[in-house]
Amino acid sequence: MIEVKNVRQSYGGREVLRGINLVLPDNKVSALIGANGAGKSTLLNVITRLLPFRDGAVFLDGRDMGAMKSRDIAKTIAVLKQSHHISIRISVEDLVAFGRYPHSRGRLTTADKVKIDEVIAYMRLEDMRGSYLDELSGGQRQRAYIAMVLAQDTRYIFLDEPLNNMDIHFSVEIMRILSRLVRDLGKTVVIVVHDINFAAAYADHVIAIKDGTIAAEGPVDRIITKETLDGVFGFDFNIAEVAGRKVCLYFRHDAARAVDNTGENVYHN
Ligand SMILES: Nc1ncnc2c1ncn2[C@@H]1O[C@H](COP(=O)(O)OP(=O)(O)O)[C@@H](O)[C@H]1O
Ligand SMILES: [Mg+2]
Repeated sequence: MIEVKNVRQSYGGREVLRGINLVLPDNKVSALIGANGAGKSTLLNVITRLLPFRDGAVFLDGRDMGAMKSRDIAKTIAVLKQSHHISIRISVEDLVAFGRYPHSRGRLTTADKVKIDEVIAYMRLEDMRGSYLDELSGGQRQRAYIAMVLAQDTRYIFLDEPLNNMDIHFSVEIMRILSRLVRDLGKTVVIVVHDINFAAAYADHVIAIKDGTIAAEGPVDRIITKETLDGVFGFDFNIAEVAGRKVCLYFRHDAARAVDNTGENVYHN
């Protein structure tokens, strides 16, 4: 279990995480939602120790992560950052192999190679395993990065906006894979998602961040409600239920529906 206690972080005197207290439930998909600049990436980066923080502590199974060795953390927590531009020319297979580093330290064993093949197949990258990253589309490259993270084979998987550049087909595929990792392999997944409907459809637990604080947190059904989402995003939400899951439509509060002189309904933004 990961526990965040009173974590604060600021940039140049401006506080962007203002005392975060949070328990990330094990064996669930948790979605971090919130507007741009709310502090989602900063939170994800401090939890996974990619960024230092000014105040507070993060505990992994009751152990202060600040006192843990990086290699032990890397065997337990894998992270896909929001921006991950590697400029070196590297093949898909080598990138995925890189995910094994905390285990192999660069000397791949048979077990490492089996794992690499497994995730390449899992992410449907077989046809491009020898391709270089700069030869792939944005979505294909993103899949390769996710494969690298899965190859790390950790209990916790953190992904910051992994659906960027993905078409609907692969977005759904990724969310299904993540759900399966949780359900079948007992992993814990924490994901930043922009599309609130993906959070509503695939997350078990939702954490809504607003201005560096937790605006709402809880099981998906409790958070994906009009009251909560209107407050977090400042929009006028319309929420329906389809096949047992919530679906959100949203309009700006100031988007007045007007009737123009032809009598047609028009939206002004
Ligand atoms: N390296 C940085 N230096 C200065 N300000 C930053 C830096 N990273 C993020 N910020 C600021 O911190 C706030 C939170 O950013 P971020 O965590 O990236 O938000 P989100 O991921 O929710 O869009 C934003 O106002 C952003 O401009
Ligand atoms: Mg971000």
